[in-house]
Amino acid sequence: MVPMSGRTTALVTGANKGIGYEIAAGLGALGWSVGVGARHDQRREAAVERLRAAGVDAFGVPLDVTDDASVDAAARLIEERAGRLDVLVNNAGIAGDMPQEPTRVDPAIIRTVVETNVIGVIRVTNAMMPLLRRSASPRIVNMSSSVGSLTRQSGTAAGRTAGPVAVAYAPSKTFLNAVTLQYARELSGTNILINAGCPGYVATDLNGFQGVRTPAQGAAIAIELATLPDDGPTGQFFEDAGVVPW
Ligand SMILES: NC(=O)c1ccc[n+]([C@@H]2O[C@H](COP(=O)([O-])OP(=O)(O)OC[C@H]3O[C@@H](n4cnc5c(N)ncnc54)[C@H](OP(=O)(O)O)[C@@H]3O)[C@@H](O)[C@H]2O)c1
Repeated sequence: MVPMSGRTTALVTGANKGIGYEIAAGLGALGWSVGVGARHDQRREAAVERLRAAGVDAFGVPLDVTDDASVDAAARLIEERAGRLDVLVNNAGIAGDMPQEPTRVDPAIIRTVVETNVIGVIRVTNAMMPLLRRSASPRIVNMSSSVGSLTRQSGTAAGRTAGPVAVAYAPSKTFLNAVTLQYARELSGTNILINAGCPGYVATDLNGFQGVRTPAQGAAIAIELATLPDDGPTGQFFEDAGVVPW
């Protein structure tokens, strides 16, 4: 048995840039040890160096969420380093190629987006589950989007609609929300809290930097959900302003 680290250990997927980088920075600022999950060696190591320069106890975790072997190796790396995992932030995500109008979309785009945004989350979560179960207060945060809210997409929430028509990206987040609920149901009665978070419209590569919020602002909800108290909510969907309707 590997000795357990005394330090809170988190893994953030897709942490080399954008919102994920800022989640790693925010959790690191709490004094936590933070695994920077990223698939490209150079980008990952550059992020780890930047975080360390800012005083974060960051370590690189080679990780492609679409690849079983990569995810299994990531779990082994964390086990060897910390012996357990306290917080998993499933942040890695893609928008997918456009156009995504339903009537002319290439189904391959939908498969690719779902593979990363949904199956990838399930793959990583399940690989990390034995390590999470060793934590006193495990938390899982799935980075979703309000464009996955069927209520908002259908315009019934005070007339709000969300985002452009995108039959791959938006439903992938609806799927992810549904998956989050299923995990919460299975894990009810355990100490594992799992929630979905929406960062708002953030200026990152994902949207060609069209977003209006900073990555640090987008990271705030994930940090809040990663640090929920033991009696905190589970199986819910939040943004900074509160609960997002499914
Ligand atoms: N930006 C927004 O307005 C917005 C709004 C709502 C929700 N979100 C969600 O927030 C999360 C972060 O997005 P972002 O805006 O920060 O986008 P981003 O800057 O494009 O970052 C996405 C991250 O995910 C990583 N990634 C993608 N596919 C991966 C894979 N197969 N394996 C491992 N890592 C992978 C990327 O790594 P590479 O550098 O290797 O590509 C990158 O680190 C996503 O889940 C996104 O859907 C964003």
